[in-house]
Amino acid sequence: MNDAILVTGGAGFIGSNFVLDWIQQRGTPVINLDLLTYAGNAANLQTLEGDTRHIFVRGDICDAPLVKSLLEKYQPRALVHFAAESHVDRSLVSPDTFIQTNVFGTFTLLRQAHEYWNRLTGHEREQFRFLHVSTDEVYGTLDEHDPAFSETTAYAPNSPYAASKASSDHLVRAWHHTWGLPVLTTNCSNNYGPFQFPEKLIPLMILNALEGKPLPVYGDGLNVRDWLFVGDHCTAIREVLERGRPGETYNVGGSSERANIDVVTTICDLLDEMRPNAGIGPRRNLITYVTDRPGHDRRYAINATKITHELSWHPLERFESGIRRTVAWYLDHLDWVNNVRSGAYQQWIEHNYAERLGTERQQTEQLPQ
Ligand code: NAD
Ligand code: DAU
Repeated sequence: MNDAILVTGGAGFIGSNFVLDWIQQRGTPVINLDLLTYAGNAANLQTLEGDTRHIFVRGDICDAPLVKSLLEKYQPRALVHFAAESHVDRSLVSPDTFIQTNVFGTFTLLRQAHEYWNRLTGHEREQFRFLHVSTDEVYGTLDEHDPAFSETTAYAPNSPYAASKASSDHLVRAWHHTWGLPVLTTNCSNNYGPFQFPEKLIPLMILNALEGKPLPVYGDGLNVRDWLFVGDHCTAIREVLERGRPGETYNVGGSSERANIDVVTTICDLLDEMRPNAGIGPRRNLITYVTDRPGHDRRYAINATKITHELSWHPLERFESGIRRTVAWYLDHLDWVNNVRSGAYQQWIEHNYAERLGTERQQTEQLPQ
């Protein structure tokens, strides 16, 4: 075993932020296994080109022989598992890939990591960790005055995405309980920041507002999310990996609950300030209430007391400064935006919003996987 870590999904939004952060903070090698689905983008890691500490492998976490060979070849001291299908709206349209990647993929990684760990001895066996990156959505939904989710909140996942992540959490737990595999699970709230694929609320609204397009707010816009800047999530994962107790789960959150409509108006005001456009006028006028997401969870909120007390972690970025940084990042990276908004992306936007916005056309295309 050496200092290397095996990361899955390291070309996605959080994974790529984590890999960049890891190389900068720790500087030890990262083997990055990513299938490069529509959500994965090698360009996120462009600054690591030529850096021998980053070894990119395009492949599927469901491919057991591949996972086995990577573990044998690189002898990593940890596996940090981000790879997933991650968009709730897509899980309502094509849940199959969510079950395959999030459930079967996690199972494949666990089985291979278990066999690998079984062959380790002494210090190397003691040090090995399997860190599973999960979500607060496994806990279901909160009413306005409910206490925030803690690590002991009962699981009650509501969407196919949340159910697939909950299943994967249970598998991770079982591998620890039955065989003692040294696992760690993090359940995090909504992330935002650089490299987020523009199907999610914040980047979608930034780009639509920039271009003067309608801003589709689901339902009454009063659903609440607890926003965390992605860099703070990466720090939390590093801390849990280094000092978390095997078998434990850690909730990670931003202590920044915001109603969706407040997030969208903040973005409108920032764009009016940073990119005033007389032709578009005040961006708040672009807000369009549209048909709600079926089964839409009302509120998420995280009680992060455990990770704060045990590992002294707390978020450093305030929402107001983080959202300003994020808007500025997208404005500065329009080439990146144009690259990721391929034909497949346009197909998804058409599929998800045409009916909601009343601009429906005959749809015969296959949805991108
Ligand atoms: P993302 O959709 O941006 O990226 C997912 C990455 O996984 C992509 O690079 C994709 O190519 C890769 N991938 C998908 N299927 C794969 C497969 N079968 N084999 C190998 N690679 C595959 O996701 P994200 O938003 O960065 O989320 C990363 C993880 O964090 C997920 O597990 C998600 O559930 C969890 N999470 C996300 C958030 C959030 O707000 N985005 C919050 C809490 C937890
Ligand atoms: O809570 C953690 C989860 O956060 C992660 O596990 C998921 O991977 C991540 O996608 C995110 O899930 P959400 O469903 O909360 O994120 P999304 O950005 O899709 O939506 C945020 C809120 O905004 C939600 O209440 C739905 C609403 N929304 C979303 C879109 C895309 C809109 O009103 N309009 C939109 O067009």
